[in-house]
Amino acid sequence: MERGAPSSGELLEIAVGLARDAAATAYRMRAEGVSVAATKSTVTDVVTAADRAVEMQVLDALRRLRPADAVLGEEYGAGDTEVGADGVRWILDPIDGTVNYLYGLPHCAVSLAAEVDGEVVAGVVRNVITGEEWTATAGGGAWRDGERLRCSTETDLGQALVATGFGYDPKRRAHQARVVAELIPHVRDIRRLGAAALDLCLAAEGRVDVYYEKGLAAWDQAAGALVATEAGMLVAGLGGRPAGPDLVIAAPPALFAPLHDRLADLDASGGP
Ligand code: IPD
Repeated sequence: MERGAPSSGELLEIAVGLARDAAATAYRMRAEGVSVAATKSTVTDVVTAADRAVEMQVLDALRRLRPADAVLGEEYGAGDTEVGADGVRWILDPIDGTVNYLYGLPHCAVSLAAEVDGEVVAGVVRNVITGEEWTATAGGGAWRDGERLRCSTETDLGQALVATGFGYDPKRRAHQARVVAELIPHVRDIRRLGAAALDLCLAAEGRVDVYYEKGLAAWDQAAGALVATEAGMLVAGLGGRPAGPDLVIAAPPALFAPLHDRLADLDASGGP
């Protein structure tokens, strides 16, 4: 790699170490009792003390290990447009599935990805409660706890189990709910599990067939999208655009076009 950037394997090794320590902190803080520290975009978009503590822990560790790198984190932002000296930027969601974390539902995770020159090359998603851990490097496959992952082989959208999520803004949710209402008669069923990073990892191993969502930030999807891609899924937006805030669609190749077209018809990337 140029300018002395570490290999994707080296970046993954750092990411995994940090994610394990971060998940341990989140787990311990959950056991000690959790409460809302603040709200963000709406009253239901909460931040816990653990979100902040975990992000600070990872930021401090990265400053020590990789002082020249940029970091984009959910709680403290920064680094949004910065790129480190070696072209490396870390993208961190300290706790994805914060509402699940608050309620003690075991579907919340630390998500950490490393980009080089704007391309995600390594990512780890670690479930805070169960300890399940998904990893991927660009071109190196997707893995969970030593097992190589392949996505679903389903070819019929009518048989597909579809995961999705909703934003925090009530108007956006209303639009997303209308899309789901139109989609559900045409698929096996819908799951709303509450953590985008984990939803993408579950899709990567066929525990759901497809996933889509509007409104995701980079930290929600960077690591999980790499895991899904490396497991054989197509991950993109509408009309050939890259996956992004407008829409993320993750589907096995045979299901991508039918799901894409249905979501385009339903204006899934529209609304507020
Ligand atoms: C949220 C979760 C949720 C998704 C939302 C995200 P957070 O992230 O990933 O599943 O539907 O769009 O904002 O707030 O728990 O980090």
